Amino acid sequence: MKPQQPLTTVLVVIFWIVSFSTSHENDVKGSASSSSSDDQLNVAFQSSSSALRSASSDDYSSSIQQQQQPQQQQDMDESASSHSKGGSLSDATAVNLAERSPRFEDPSGHANVTVQLGDTAFLNCRVLDLQDKTQVSWVRRHEQELHLLTVGMQTYSTDSRFSLHFQHPNDWRLQIKFARPRDEGIYECQVSIHPPRIYTVRLIVAVPSVEMVDDHGRVIEEKIYKTGSTIELKCVVSKVPGPTANIMWRHGLRILNYDTSRGGISVKTDLLPYGAVSRLYIANASQRDAGNYTCNISESSWTTVVVHILNGEHPAAMQHGQSSSSERRPLVISMLVVVLASWFFMWKCSLSR
Ligand SMILES: *[C@@H]1O[C@H](CO)[C@@H](O)[C@H](O)[C@H]1NC(C)=O
Ligand SMILES: *[C@@H]1O[C@H](CO)[C@@H](O)[C@H](O)[C@H]1NC(C)=O
Ligand SMILES: *[C@@H]1O[C@H](CO)[C@@H](O)[C@H](O)[C@H]1NC(C)=O
Ligand SMILES: *[C@@H]1O[C@H](CO)[C@@H](O)[C@H](O)[C@H]1NC(C)=O
Repeated sequence: MKPQQPLTTVLVVIFWIVSFSTSHENDVKGSASSSSSDDQLNVAFQSSSSALRSASSDDYSSSIQQQQQPQQQQDMDESASSHSKGGSLSDATAVNLAERSPRFEDPSGHANVTVQLGDTAFLNCRVLDLQDKTQVSWVRRHEQELHLLTVGMQTYSTDSRFSLHFQHPNDWRLQIKFARPRDEGIYECQVSIHPPRIYTVRLIVAVPSVEMVDDHGRVIEEKIYKTGSTIELKCVVSKVPGPTANIMWRHGLRILNYDTSRGGISVKTDLLPYGAVSRLYIANASQRDAGNYTCNISESSWTTVVVHILNGEHPAAMQHGQSSSSERRPLVISMLVVVLASWFFMWKCSLSR
């Protein structure tokens, strides 16, 4: 745990205590001024709001908000008097109180957001009827710990990928750049009234699958061809939101998709509902074609296969390695295969001489 995190958590707690106690003072002042009035409805309002206060601590803050605003209280008195003939005064008051307190536009109180690995995630938090002194904060809940990310327009996170981008008129939108798998989890948008209102967003980081496979669909890490044969590589992209045509092939750093300098190179990509299959063909392979071939759909989603070109008359193209390239396992197994293949090759050479 980083040293700033407990400090920021403490700060946010202090912040709430302070903002709560200031609004509580206002409440006391409000009660004093309204009790000096002889207006019967006001007395009725007081008693109904104190009834609410004891009934539900949630509505306590609503009554605080009301009394800070004389104009609104007048509205309330009017609506209360218009309803008083109908009977239930406290019901009408309760409705008004609930409407005027800060609340989230999305009444469900939670949302799921999915972002592609490496893309920017936007976590919306639309707050209605936010009062002047009230702050909106973003907090990350991670293994029983709370990490403060933003308060109001200020960003407190030490990770510069996090920032607040307020969207007019009421969206306290948290932006997370270059989403990573470890960003996944629960984020809370909190409104600093007592008790705090919390909007929960679950962030899911979708990691596309990019794999180089053989003819049987097994994942490969390397391929061995003999000189003059045709290199055929197959890259399968899946777990993306839709069909994706932007598959880039590279040999080392050289981009092959539109390469005309060598000749004999072709790329064929078939779209799938949630991905694509792309095939790279390189005719008349020579030593120059050996090395790493990479297929990618973004900076963060790619895979590599190592191509070996054997000289002379040798068995047809061989394939090795069935382990998962997406996990980028240590190359011990591949090295072993290469060593064995070279021994085999040298042995064949000595036989043919
Ligand atoms: C979010 O996802 C969870 C689990 O997949 C689901 O139970 C919940 O209903 C979803 N919530 C929303 C608002 O879509
Ligand atoms: C294959 O490449 C070699 C040189 O690497 C060249 O001599 C030969 O003519 C090429 N064959 C074809 C069919 O293009
Ligand atoms: C080829 O890729 C492997 C990992 O797949 C890497 O260890 C090696 O350094 C790469 N070689 C080159 C020349 O980029
Ligand atoms: C990966 O592919 C995309 C297009 O599909 C390209 O814009 C980007 O530059 C590539 N990134 C790397 C590191 O190769």
